Amino acid sequence: MLPNLSSLKTDALSQLEQIQSPDDLPVWYRAWLGRKGHLTEALRGLGGLSAEDRPKAGQQVNQLKEELEQAFQARQEAVKNLALAASLAGGALDITLPGRPLQGGHLHITTRTLRKIRQIFGEMGFQVYEAPEVETDETNFGLLNIPPYHPARDMWDTFWVDDGVVLRTHTSPGQIRCMREYHPQPIRVILPGKCYRYEAITPRSEHQFFQVEGLAIGRNITMTDLIGTMREFTLKMYGESRRLRLRGSYFPFTEPSIEIDMDCMICQGKGCRVCKHTGWLEVGGAGMVHPVVLENGGYDPGEWTGFAFGMGVERPAMLHHGIEDIRYFYSNDLRFLHQF
Ligand code: DAH
Repeated sequence: MLPNLSSLKTDALSQLEQIQSPDDLPVWYRAWLGRKGHLTEALRGLGGLSAEDRPKAGQQVNQLKEELEQAFQARQEAVKNLALAASLAGGALDITLPGRPLQGGHLHITTRTLRKIRQIFGEMGFQVYEAPEVETDETNFGLLNIPPYHPARDMWDTFWVDDGVVLRTHTSPGQIRCMREYHPQPIRVILPGKCYRYEAITPRSEHQFFQVEGLAIGRNITMTDLIGTMREFTLKMYGESRRLRLRGSYFPFTEPSIEIDMDCMICQGKGCRVCKHTGWLEVGGAGMVHPVVLENGGYDPGEWTGFAFGMGVERPAMLHHGIEDIRYFYSNDLRFLHQF
């Protein structure tokens, strides 16, 4: 007896349509088209038919088999696409999401301070002159009017590289190099750079630090030009309301020599911890270039005059930002560096 082929077909197709997972496909195939599947059973049923019914029924079963095979192929394809769509939806790359931020670097606090100093002097027409960090004893001291026996050598504790060769203790030797290169022309330069001193490292002193030197040589340069230049710089660097104070001082390479202070920008001169309750902060040393130094640089002191100044870089940055220990500048601790 042949089973009802049309209900067999409806059942088979409706079950096939419900398959979502690729794992269920072989299960369906075994149940319907496999060796012990429903259709094979139907074929077996053909044996019970009369000889005249058998060919027609056989044809119908074979046709159904063909249809189910085709439906299976189609479903297999559809399920594959379903799986692909699901995996795309699940693990999708959303290109509209914001990216993960990269941690960017930035300029060191010393570099930023140096750049600001360069910019202010640049606006006043000063060029930058670079001089070497390894210097001769002669240029670092002798030509700056500090002969070997001079007690002023005690002002700079020196790293000696070799006999007669030092790590520069200040940027002042650059004055000699610059004058020797450009004489007999007027000069207006700053000389920024690293200096070294054989000193104990403490919260207030490092054995390497930056200075910015200044040098102006001309035919009618006076102390007034020096004061005006320092005033302009201080106001631009530390605020328009700053006041300057000049004190007589001594440096072997300038005569007369002064030290320049400004009123403390933290307490506006009232007195605080930063200015040690004096109300004043040191800007730098300065003076009129000593005739001996002019001569050593190739300028006739009867014809030329000039001023010079020298200032620290880390110290003002420390004051400005309330940094209590100069050692942070070189310790490369990102927690410190990222604050600026
Ligand atoms: N070279 C000096 C120092 O390191 C600073 C200085 C003072 C530089 C007076 C100058 C100057 O050019 O005129 O202590």
